[in-house]
Amino acid sequence: MSNRQSGLRLQSPLPEGYTDATADELSRRIAKAKSTLGDRVMILGHHYQRDEVMRWADARGDSFGLSRLAADARDAEFVVFCGVHFMAESADILTGDHQQVVLPDLNAGCSMADMADLESVEEAWEAISGVTDITSVVPITYMNSSAALKAFVGRHGGAVCTSSNARAVLTWALEQHGPDTKVLFFPDQHLGRNTAYQLGFAESDMAVWDPRREMGGLEDRRVKEARFLLWKGHCSVHQRFRPAHVEAFRAAHPDGLVFVHPECAHDVVALGDVVGSTDAIIKAVDAAPAGSVIAVATEIHLVQRLDDEHPDLTVVSLDPLVCPCSTMFRIDAPHLCWVLESLVEGAVVNRITVDPATAADAKVALERMLAIA
Ligand code: 13P
Ligand code: SF4
Repeated sequence: MSNRQSGLRLQSPLPEGYTDATADELSRRIAKAKSTLGDRVMILGHHYQRDEVMRWADARGDSFGLSRLAADARDAEFVVFCGVHFMAESADILTGDHQQVVLPDLNAGCSMADMADLESVEEAWEAISGVTDITSVVPITYMNSSAALKAFVGRHGGAVCTSSNARAVLTWALEQHGPDTKVLFFPDQHLGRNTAYQLGFAESDMAVWDPRREMGGLEDRRVKEARFLLWKGHCSVHQRFRPAHVEAFRAAHPDGLVFVHPECAHDVVALGDVVGSTDAIIKAVDAAPAGSVIAVATEIHLVQRLDDEHPDLTVVSLDPLVCPCSTMFRIDAPHLCWVLESLVEGAVVNRITVDPATAADAKVALERMLAIA
């Protein structure tokens, strides 16, 4: 089990002069460090980042867009990744050897990614191979997973997917070994289930693999019959949205629109007007007619930014009590300031590296995704 998965705190406290600095002072210092570094640094920001961080991003994106940007950012010596650990790992894999990736707070992990580790996936693979022809099983990992799992997938003929290309990647996976092809999908059961439904499959084609139970908690017959084995993992932010929230919103706003991220449970997704990645949600809000009232089922910082940036629309969280993603929230102005000022002084702090053997296999799985999408 990695330090991250065992819940160990990796980030040491910031040196003096960061946590007690005012917002204005931090802004001045970040601006100065960024301009001193110039083209040597590229700051990437995921849509869930706070505004105090996002305003400094050279490029914003969903997890797929950011992986593309990292792969294309050949000139920057340093990529400061304002997002979570698995995204920074993927950036390290996709950038060149001359580039270094920095995550401003090492505690910015992802609870969903931690729900599958290499050991339990290898155990599942072994158990599945005992009851079905493993050569017709394609492992697909959601981007929200460790580099070790991406490497596993790369070694076993599978690919990575994100919420913006899951349909294309699963379609590709199902074509790999003829009509009997099965998909082992981890770690997010909801994205797997929602995409399988989108492709026309029925509930009976899907079985949930519980890594804490013998044979995933399934009878051998279910493992043999299912086309999709969905890892029992979820996002703690998106699982909070419930059908009752949609019903309450529609009762209050009969003409309102509901936009849902596919990490939400299927009963919520089924009620949405638009279902898509953070980028797809942004595009749908941009395209909404003036005066629309839109409830969005995703992380609150993106929802608030959409509302701020569209004065002609009302954009609210589908769940009025929704909490932010606590790990995305760890990246703040003091940490960003610290990593940038350290780079100016010649010190690369919080560098994220993936060992070469893991990176080589993971790159195969990531590049398959980039080629499919
Ligand atoms: P996307 O940005 O790909 O929609 O993913 C959302 C997410 O939860 C990232 O952790
Ligand atoms: Fe992970 Fe969910 Fe946070 Fe995304 S929103 S980083 S899936 S915990």
